[in-house]
Amino acid sequence: MQCTTSELRQSRGVIESYREFLPVSDSTPIVSLGEGNTTLIYCPQLSKRVGRGCEVFVKNEGVNPTGSFKDRGMTVAVSKAMERAASAIICASTGNTSASAAAYAARAGILCIVILPTGKIATGKLLQAFAYGAKMVAIDGNFDDALGIVRELGDSHEFVIVNSINPDRIAGQKTAAFEIVDVLGDAPDFHLLPVGNAGNITAYRAGYREYQAHQKSTKVPAMIGFQAAGAAPIYYNRIVEKPETIASAIRIGNPASWKQACAAIAESHGAIDFVSDQEILAAQSWLAKHEGIFVEPASAASIAGLFKCCDSNEAAYAFQNIPEASRIVCTVTGHGLKDPDAITQAMKELKPVAATVNDVRHAIGL
Ligand code: F0G
Repeated sequence: MQCTTSELRQSRGVIESYREFLPVSDSTPIVSLGEGNTTLIYCPQLSKRVGRGCEVFVKNEGVNPTGSFKDRGMTVAVSKAMERAASAIICASTGNTSASAAAYAARAGILCIVILPTGKIATGKLLQAFAYGAKMVAIDGNFDDALGIVRELGDSHEFVIVNSINPDRIAGQKTAAFEIVDVLGDAPDFHLLPVGNAGNITAYRAGYREYQAHQKSTKVPAMIGFQAAGAAPIYYNRIVEKPETIASAIRIGNPASWKQACAAIAESHGAIDFVSDQEILAAQSWLAKHEGIFVEPASAASIAGLFKCCDSNEAAYAFQNIPEASRIVCTVTGHGLKDPDAITQAMKELKPVAATVNDVRHAIGL
């Protein structure tokens, strides 16, 4: 069966879609799982919550092949690793990078080595890395320790680091900004996203700037990043030695792209802020119940942040005075099924009733 051009575009992945903006050539072997082209969903309930005729869109990165935004960067990083004839890739991870690296390494037929903080990886992500056949090493330490070890092991001919300190990762991830502009016709006014190692905010900044330079958009949005309260080094402007948060994906005390994140925020007249674990879980539940979008806790930091901007006098960015009819994009970075632990408690309260219509009617509350 013949595909139409637009159908082909949907499945061809970010390198084929944005080749001219990426560090690839005709001799780069492309390793892709059809990542990118994720949905930018208009959210009526969130828009109502903000008011002032504003439109809120959610960029749903959980629909990527391994369920997170990491796949955009990984297709480029692994393709470039293959171009360099690497036989293995290595990464430290809070979970999603390892799931993505493991999948793309499997696709490329090379080894993936993962160094991770023991006991701090969400169940779904850990399962993914094992399923894709990665070599897993758990350390008694946090993500920052793991990344330190990966840096020391170093980049070499046979061993390519695929954390976001690898510029190919950032290059791939900037395509999310391109897609947003391609759909909206211009950049939004505000862009909210979770911040952990600060690679993604760096990538969005690069993407928005590049599209503006190519006259594909007229502006760069105010970039507003949200860290978890117990892991907010950029907000407090100091390294957090023992970061803690339920949002394990962003449990990071010394982000690698710290300076770049500050530059993105300053240059775009944005802000950095933090949200509590309680706010994160409330936003995760709210988004699932009001907009039908189920995201992992770290991803809900952008939504919790939006609520803080709307409601709190202490927010680093107050939305009460933003121009009417502003366009706001919130990136949600990973799928809810990756990290089910916070939800399973509610499931345990589900007790079976007798298999009769009457008992079921009673259980429904009819
Ligand atoms: N959201 C999710 C779901 C993540 O997995 C991460 C980072 C972030 C947000 C933050 O993005 O680091 O670019 O600022 N996860 C990394 C990992 C650290 O190892 O999977 P960032």
